[in-house]
Amino acid sequence: MPPIEAPDALSMTPEEFRRLGHRVVDWIADYRAGVASRPIQSRTQPGDLLAALPASAPERPEGFDAVLRDLDALLLPATSHWQHPRFFAYFPSNGDLASVLGDFLSTGLGALGLSWQTAPALTELEQRATEWLAQLCGLSPAWRGVLQDTASTCSFLAMVCARERATGHNAARAGMQHGDAPLVVYTSAEAHSSIEKAALLAGFGRAHFRKIAVDAARALDAAALAAAMRADADAGLRPCAVVATTGTTATTATDPIAACAVAAAAHGAWLHVDAAMAGSAMLLPECRPLWDGVERADSIVVNPHKWLGAAFDCSVFWVRDDELLVRALSTNPSYLRTEADGRVRNYRDWSIALGRRFRALKLWSLLRTHGADRLRARLRRDLANARWLADQAAAAPPWRVLAPTPLQTVVLRHEPPGLAGDDLDRHTLGWLARVHATGEAWLTPTQLDGRWAVRISIGALATERDDVAALWQLLQDAVA
Ligand SMILES: Cc1ncc(COP(=O)(O)O)c(C=O)c1O
Repeated sequence: MPPIEAPDALSMTPEEFRRLGHRVVDWIADYRAGVASRPIQSRTQPGDLLAALPASAPERPEGFDAVLRDLDALLLPATSHWQHPRFFAYFPSNGDLASVLGDFLSTGLGALGLSWQTAPALTELEQRATEWLAQLCGLSPAWRGVLQDTASTCSFLAMVCARERATGHNAARAGMQHGDAPLVVYTSAEAHSSIEKAALLAGFGRAHFRKIAVDAARALDAAALAAAMRADADAGLRPCAVVATTGTTATTATDPIAACAVAAAAHGAWLHVDAAMAGSAMLLPECRPLWDGVERADSIVVNPHKWLGAAFDCSVFWVRDDELLVRALSTNPSYLRTEADGRVRNYRDWSIALGRRFRALKLWSLLRTHGADRLRARLRRDLANARWLADQAAAAPPWRVLAPTPLQTVVLRHEPPGLAGDDLDRHTLGWLARVHATGEAWLTPTQLDGRWAVRISIGALATERDDVAALWQLLQDAVA
């Protein structure tokens, strides 16, 4: 292929874009087709890439060819491969190419949602796509949806709503000095760190953030929650919000939402459900008992950019009372007012940022391209793969499955007789390092009750039973 000249025009022309865009699509298609042959984690050392990158931007045009050259030579070696079929780390994410194409379209349109008027399709497609997903998850029509970047943002917004409802919108008026009794937030000891961050950013203060004990299945202990809320109320504090998790990060434990709803209702507290990872499973009717009681919540977050396969970033925030959300977040400067106001959604009032991209395109592309049935089939494939691996490990002591496997995450430890404490930790981290040294799989360590375990999150788009079987062999080789 001849080198591509730098453009003469002051910006890239549509014709140049056509020519180069085809190369980019080919590049991505080749990358995805060949990703399985790459070492899964980058071997780059901190600072290697920085040292290879010029310290200043070029003054003269270099042409897009320079970008593609450096992509291959510099960036790819410094990239770890989340779309690798043996990616079992963190959570499956970000992958389906139908959604990638939707994201391209969003970027290519270059439209910005500041109000309904600035991009009507952006707003109305977002409304419809979040309604579709709510239906697919078995939710009632009571929910109103908006797309945010991440679950962290959604949970932060939930905390702001909780605070504003509890204070009759006084916290927004008087700020941190609203003068009422201190407001308290409750979640389980296994909740994601984004919940604590959300509570702190929303002004509750660490002193008013309670991590409630979990039961043997690592789900929030509802009796302990009720007791903690009662004790705070008796001490003159105001229980304000409860965050229940459907699918915790470490083990995919599921908190008892119905019982959390009862405890929250006793104090008029907001109930937020963090189903960032496990929400995708709610497309499967057989998984919905895991979030029994969800209709009694005030808000929910689900990340389609996790297991469902939408391109990052795509996080759905559903609220029942959208008026409360809008009242908490709305600003209405003269330059943003339009004649449609009052008849339409202005999603700037549902988010922190003013400007929003056409995020719904990637969710809509995913749902339309595949249809719900194909998405369900993939989720069921992953559930079956996780069950298979858990069964193998359970039948092969001294391997031990440390937590129930209701979804697609298996948490394991290899526990040779006589090994305990720090020695067991060293053994666990040692075999994990040996697995990683092969470059053939990527897993995540996690601490349970202060001791290291290994978490295997199944569900990358390309992961088939053969990959899980190969991983199981790799684990056994690593402890041999
Ligand atoms: C249960 C849960 N909540 C929240 C998050 C945070 O997600 P995000 O990166 O979208 O903020 C995660 C990510 O792992 C998660 O597993």
